Amino acid sequence: MAKMTAQEYMDRESKYGAHNYHPLPVVLDKGKGPLVWDTDGKQYFDFLSAYSAVNQGHCHPKIVGAMVEQAQKITLTSRAFYNSCLGEFEEYVTKYFGYDKVLPMNTGAEADETALKLCRKWGYMKKGIAENQAKIICCNENFHGRTISIISMSTDPDSYGGFGPFTPGFVKIPYNDLAALENELKDPNVAGFLVEPIQGEAGVFVPDEGYLKKAYDLCKKHNVLFIADEVQTGIARTGKLLACDHEGVHPDILILGKAISGGVFPVSCVLANDDIMLCIKPGEHGSTFGGNPIAAKVAIAALDVIKDEKLADNAERLGKIFRDEIRSIESEMIELVRGKGLLNAVVIKPKNGKTAWDVCVAMKENGLLAKPTHGHIIRFAPPLVITEKQLREAIQIIKKTFKQFE
Ligand SMILES: Cc1ncc(COP(=O)(O)O)c(C=O)c1O
Repeated sequence: MAKMTAQEYMDRESKYGAHNYHPLPVVLDKGKGPLVWDTDGKQYFDFLSAYSAVNQGHCHPKIVGAMVEQAQKITLTSRAFYNSCLGEFEEYVTKYFGYDKVLPMNTGAEADETALKLCRKWGYMKKGIAENQAKIICCNENFHGRTISIISMSTDPDSYGGFGPFTPGFVKIPYNDLAALENELKDPNVAGFLVEPIQGEAGVFVPDEGYLKKAYDLCKKHNVLFIADEVQTGIARTGKLLACDHEGVHPDILILGKAISGGVFPVSCVLANDDIMLCIKPGEHGSTFGGNPIAAKVAIAALDVIKDEKLADNAERLGKIFRDEIRSIESEMIELVRGKGLLNAVVIKPKNGKTAWDVCVAMKENGLLAKPTHGHIIRFAPPLVITEKQLREAIQIIKKTFKQFE
């Protein structure tokens, strides 16, 4: 069969796939570490990392090895039976993050849903909230996934528009606003406060220093659970194991996804201590694939790699270099550079009709892949295994691209 062109690959997706994404016009075929190759063999730096899932780099041999080995033994048992891998993962991950218990799921959205259910259950069983009255505070511009309940929290019309009716029980407040939080916390029906330590999809909004700690303390004062969605910020991305670690905050409920498998397999989970986690009883929640043997082995390997390769330290060190270098670019299109560790964003001011999308297309031509979020913001989040030499090469590509727009 004749080799397909990139256009043919794209046309086929467009013809047979739902149009729920608008991908950059590049067809990826292979990846290794921070690099990916398209179907014509052209090499790129991956500065999206599958939305921060591939923190350990593409096709990390240790993680892929764990998956292949387990896939040849047993792949799925369901939770109707015990399996020989799940307990090992549960012990490993709870000790790794310092919690009594873990509840494994598959995607980030499922883990968020799990946290919401767990929080409501705790509200009724432990806080004494009257039946069906529990409220959870969330933040404007949040992103927690795509399910009906999660988009019921969304303030982004693209996320919620046309999908109502919505799930009740959410109170929306501005992000990074402690006074608004304190005001809502006075309501005795509030069971939890769900927050991203940095709002990733919103455009890498980093809250004021001290916000998370003060929000946590306010939650404690009002007997409300502090729930951190670290699906995107978690696992070394921001220069610490968790973004909450920057402020010494240990969330009551911790939500993880994406990089917990290094992007090799869908794995997510919710961590909490016994007084919260044991509110959910057998039969009240679950997932056919959650906690499957491959996921368990893959996640252990992926978390090993984070520690073995000191990826949090790498993210911290290289993130500073990245921000300094990008801030030094003289371009009218660069309005602002912000971020933490290797989760960064550049806010783009359109010039001569050229937008963040055009910058991303030009960077692609020059050998670097990144994607705009909300039209005018470009997120830069390479795999954390990137070396300083590779990062500096990538920065040259970014600089060259902005020059083309001058
Ligand atoms: C903070 C946060 N939570 C949840 C999700 C949803 O994860 P998933 O796409 O795996 O459902 C995302 C995805 O980008 C996210 O950034």
